[in-house]
Amino acid sequence: MCGIVGYIGNQDTKEILLRGLEKLEYRGYDSAGIAVLDRQGVHLFKEKGRIACLREIVDPQTCGEVGIGHTRWATHGVPNRVNAHPHQSASGRFTLVHNGVIENYEQLKTGLLASHDFKSDTDTEVIVQLVEKFAGESETVEEGFRKTLKELKGSYAIALLDKEDPDVIYVAKNKSPLLVGVGEHFNVVASDAMAMLQVTDQFVELMDKEIVVLTRNSITIKDLEGREIQRGTFTPEIDASDIEKGTYPHYMLKEIDEQPFVIRNIVQKYQDLDGKLSLDESIRKEMLSCDRVYIIACGTSYHAGLVGKQYMEKWAKVPVEVHIASEFSYNMPLLSEKPLFIFISQSGETADSRAVLVEIKKLGHKAITLTNVPGSTLSREADHTLHLYAGPEIAVASTKAYTAQLAVLAILAVDTAYAKGIELDFDPIKELSIVANAMEILCDAKEEMEDIAATYLPADKRNAFFLGRNMDYYVCLEGALKLKEISYIQAEGFPGGELKHGPIALIEDGTPIIALATQEKVNLNIRGNVKEVVARGANPCIISMKGLQQPRDRFIIPAVHPDFTALVSVIPLQLISYYAALQRGCDVDKPRNLAKSVTVE
Ligand code: M6R
Repeated sequence: MCGIVGYIGNQDTKEILLRGLEKLEYRGYDSAGIAVLDRQGVHLFKEKGRIACLREIVDPQTCGEVGIGHTRWATHGVPNRVNAHPHQSASGRFTLVHNGVIENYEQLKTGLLASHDFKSDTDTEVIVQLVEKFAGESETVEEGFRKTLKELKGSYAIALLDKEDPDVIYVAKNKSPLLVGVGEHFNVVASDAMAMLQVTDQFVELMDKEIVVLTRNSITIKDLEGREIQRGTFTPEIDASDIEKGTYPHYMLKEIDEQPFVIRNIVQKYQDLDGKLSLDESIRKEMLSCDRVYIIACGTSYHAGLVGKQYMEKWAKVPVEVHIASEFSYNMPLLSEKPLFIFISQSGETADSRAVLVEIKKLGHKAITLTNVPGSTLSREADHTLHLYAGPEIAVASTKAYTAQLAVLAILAVDTAYAKGIELDFDPIKELSIVANAMEILCDAKEEMEDIAATYLPADKRNAFFLGRNMDYYVCLEGALKLKEISYIQAEGFPGGELKHGPIALIEDGTPIIALATQEKVNLNIRGNVKEVVARGANPCIISMKGLQQPRDRFIIPAVHPDFTALVSVIPLQLISYYAALQRGCDVDKPRNLAKSVTVE
């Protein structure tokens, strides 16, 4: 979490920093700050709240040709102006921004820095105080910086300014994402490429435990011993227009609407020259040689994994376990003899998933990462990457990445089934194209979804339940997560049959129930479960699939192949959550307490 940006060159530094931070706001948004250095000294601006609040306090006259900025998701210390970055050393010589967590900051405070006073509650402040200490004891600031980094345990992406040298930014990275952007007579650094697309499309990747000395005209990468490292540039596959909202009021709505395109795009990207769905031979080999797949993920990606398990077991006959990453890390199950790990992560930066990846690599196991960000940490550190091709997802609530994950997992299962000589009784390309068409119809049903939100989830409702069976249950988990994270309504997804074992005690007069009925095999069962809650006063909204509908169903989704329903039934739930949040005046794209990229464990 947290986003950092730094710029050195002769354009409007403060504006580049602020615009960069606006693009990074998805990483955290409880406070923000920038520091711009000119020959007079450092001009520091920090504010609680969004970048818009910071903008209001930045002096428009501020100019300077080097600066750093930060948008924060609090880990150590409450969100306020004091804890906001940049932080400064005691003398004010050094100014620093940091993303990550310094695990040994308490020991450093009471040990090496015992004689220092600290202004903030952050772990970051120890870094800048250490830089001042070690720079004073070293021949060069760079050497002092490297000594500092060697003392740190944990994760960091750092940009550092030295008041006495306005021609350089010192940069370092370990486990937190950071990229350098390359320009003509300027250079830039940020947590991700999106923050730099305003000035460049050429980037240099940084690896863990590297530092960079950045000037207007040079980028010098070194390891912690000071040995220089050569690395070329690359241009990522993103377009500046992909990260704009266009005419949409929110990214979330835009991203919901992009889903039909994303599915068609995925099918195209994974078709071979004969028009057949096909994956890289190396990935196929991993699938064929494993005896069990372990899917590791968090949040929405975990929910996608639950559906992916059905595809792999049903079509490819591969046994699959799905695990929440943060649980797996500290409670690893007994593994099979030839396990294959599949990490599902939109961002590719989720620390909980990465912790598992690190552990299983130590054990010598193979890993595939399914991600929307090739080149991300989970992508780089796994053996193979499956790209989601969903385009940047900016809203904190994941929507198009979820359906992209389902589509890519389906293709992985289909490819494995084909490779094993298993005949499928459907044409996956045709079915995915029917899915994309159905998604379009659902995206056009916004007014109905707005009405459902207003009817079933009015402002006085504090909770809601999602009921489903089989595939519908997994989608209900995702629907409940969507609703709770953006509208703050307590929402839970339950398997229909499980209610009577406890949760039914929560049903009162008017309790909103959203039930999915897209699975023929359990259609009557789920309807029986709905009757049970209606008998106890609940207010049911049944969303069924064409062909399975009954008279009082509230909304009927177009018919798709029964195995692919999750790709379409989730769209009404995404839209209902969106409108429920909107009707409550919530900040849909940036819900409280959350961040898009969860880079702390
Ligand atoms: O980037 P990842 O897919 O690894 O992120 C995992 C979760 O943090 C993420 O899905 C989260 O649950 C979303 N905010 C849900 O909308």
